[in-house]
Amino acid sequence: MFEIKITKTDAPKPKPADESALGFGKLFTDHMLLINYDEGEGWHDARIVPYAPISLEPAAMCLHYGQEVFEGMKAYKAADGEVRLFRPEKNMERLNLSNDRLCIPKIDEKFTLEAIKQLIRVDADWIPSAEGASLYIRPFIFAVDPFIGVRPANHLIFCTILSPVGAYYSDGIKPVKIYVEKNYVRSVSGGTGYTKAGANYAISLKAQDEAGKFGYVQVLWLDGVERRYIEEVGAMNVFFVFEDKASGKIEVATPALRGSILSGITRMSCIELLRSLGYTVNERLIAIDELIEADKNGTLKEAFGTGTAAVISPIGEFKYGDSIINVNNGQIGELSQRLYDTLTGIQWGRISDEFGWTVPAFGCCCK
Ligand code: PLP
Ligand code: COI
Repeated sequence: MFEIKITKTDAPKPKPADESALGFGKLFTDHMLLINYDEGEGWHDARIVPYAPISLEPAAMCLHYGQEVFEGMKAYKAADGEVRLFRPEKNMERLNLSNDRLCIPKIDEKFTLEAIKQLIRVDADWIPSAEGASLYIRPFIFAVDPFIGVRPANHLIFCTILSPVGAYYSDGIKPVKIYVEKNYVRSVSGGTGYTKAGANYAISLKAQDEAGKFGYVQVLWLDGVERRYIEEVGAMNVFFVFEDKASGKIEVATPALRGSILSGITRMSCIELLRSLGYTVNERLIAIDELIEADKNGTLKEAFGTGTAAVISPIGEFKYGDSIINVNNGQIGELSQRLYDTLTGIQWGRISDEFGWTVPAFGCCCK
């Protein structure tokens, strides 16, 4: 298990000519990491091989019942050439949380992270250095038993692919417009909303597609029971900045984790960062009516989303039925900008990392 066989491609692909126009998730590097799971053997046969199609039986269980989970992280190349990962052990931890919920055998977190680092090292030439660009790392696990009965799989594949990326939203850090979903729900407590199961994203497509027709890039989900409390956006957690008119006191609020939303690593980092800066941050219930009220009485100052792909994404507008909530005149708020600058500063090594969040991509964590 603790050995990683490396087979390099003899046909490397050309690297992107213009790193400032990478977009998100369209290009893949020359290699991928594979690890097999077979009942009785556990996870075994870790290997780095040329990026290529994976052959599957048509009866492979993942194709029928969606037993699949994934993660998302990034490698950041600093101006001095140093490559860093951001809290990658949290991704490994969360992958095992997803595994547990989806009846997928747990991975060895330290070894798997080490194997991912080796993959990054093999494809190090693909890590972009343009401003705001990074190497997106996508680990995922899927069930491959050829069987169409419903039960947890006994045979699975862990794979990691790498993609040089720019901004997730085509407009970069410009505020995004979000559609508040009234008809469809994503998740309920007791379901899989807190995991990164591919199925969570499949069921969100219809709402996203319909929102897209009105010109909104993403959907803000409300809770699945009362359709009243704000949960999260398609690929981001959400934060709101409220200002009490009388006292001038600022509250940063984000929906509490109640089992139906993802515990984002960017979310937890923003909470820690904001608290260290002296802000009051509350993880609590936030009703959509509260947002509408705060907009009317002028106490809603800023809204932003957080995520690995999206980084800090200011929100300029929400549409909820016939109501339009215009946030900060559609401009980037002061706090959103400060968080963006601090977080990306730490990730790219421009600001000293007092939290100890970053780790060198090429150092060994395998003890
Ligand atoms: N919520 C959802 C549904 C996501 O897909 C993501 C992205 O991974 C996030 C929140 C943000 O999580 P993180 O900050 O760990 O990337
Ligand atoms: C990420 O931010 O890493 C994600 O997984 C979001 C993804 C759905 C693009």
